[in-house]
Amino acid sequence: MFYTFINSCIYQKLVLLCGLLLYFIVFTVHATALSFVDNGVTVKTVEIEDLIHIIEVKSLTVNSPTDSSIKSYQGLSLNLLLDAVYTSAWKNNDAVKFTALDGYQSIIPASVIFKHNGMIAIGENGQHGFTKLLRSNSDTVDPAPFFLVWENIRDISARKEPWLSWPWQLKSIELTSFKREYPNSTPPSSSSKSVKKGFLAFRQHCIKCHTLNGDGGSIGPELNYPVSVTEYWKSKWLRRFIVNPQSVRSNSKMIPFYRDVENRQEQVADIIEYLKVMARNKSLTSIQ
Ligand code: HEC
Repeated sequence: MFYTFINSCIYQKLVLLCGLLLYFIVFTVHATALSFVDNGVTVKTVEIEDLIHIIEVKSLTVNSPTDSSIKSYQGLSLNLLLDAVYTSAWKNNDAVKFTALDGYQSIIPASVIFKHNGMIAIGENGQHGFTKLLRSNSDTVDPAPFFLVWENIRDISARKEPWLSWPWQLKSIELTSFKREYPNSTPPSSSSKSVKKGFLAFRQHCIKCHTLNGDGGSIGPELNYPVSVTEYWKSKWLRRFIVNPQSVRSNSKMIPFYRDVENRQEQVADIIEYLKVMARNKSLTSIQ
């Protein structure tokens, strides 16, 4: 009896130890690997060491959109990397989804990606790893292991392109389509022009962090289900919050609506119109 008790103690400790070890391995692999997925099927998962053998590592100097500083990164050309992993047929896909470790999800049309020069940065020139980036609420973030940056000094049009986001801490790249990713957030086809424009702006600027009827990223809260934000926020305050979140909640983690965007106020108004329409189109099926 005593013997079995000791035995089971050792057994329990062993299980615990193995569990911890497994967690550690999974966590470390998870944190430094980049997965390539094709419409739900993982085709390749690589570590930095493997990635640098796929194509040549180059330098790219960019104007950082977070603080307008000039930064020089080392990494792999996104277009060449996608060609190498998926063949040039990746361009026939509607869009490419970039998912970050923190739940951020940015989906960029394939046609916009191959018009510009993106780079999967693996470090900054002249140093090991990256300098930390400043976030809107004055804390910092390390963009490692992979940071998607864009040539925006020679290519000025990249600065004005609303689809081009700069996701850091990338964990996967997936070929996909908007239809597949956002089945429950599309407004009814009979909606007004401003609602449709609002949906487009919402996909470009908001759905990376928020879900709407379950579609989108998970940094911010769901905005429509079961209660729409338009049902408990007055439009005036919603407008002010979207334009400058910290002017309503001092410690908000949300970024202000991009300053460089054309027709900024009009776009915010369209987004609110879209949110109001979606308050009457709540999807019960999409939330698990
Ligand atoms: C970088 C991520 C990020 C982006 C981009 C973002 N948000 Fe947010 N948002 C958040 C987070 C996090 C919160 C949670 C509260 C906070 O930190 O203020 C939030 C809160 C909100 C709230 C308040 C929700 C509530 O229940 O009170 C609204 C409304 C909102 N966001 C709308 C938007 C809209 C519209 C856009 C696009 C123009 C947008 N957000 C873009 C991260 C983001």
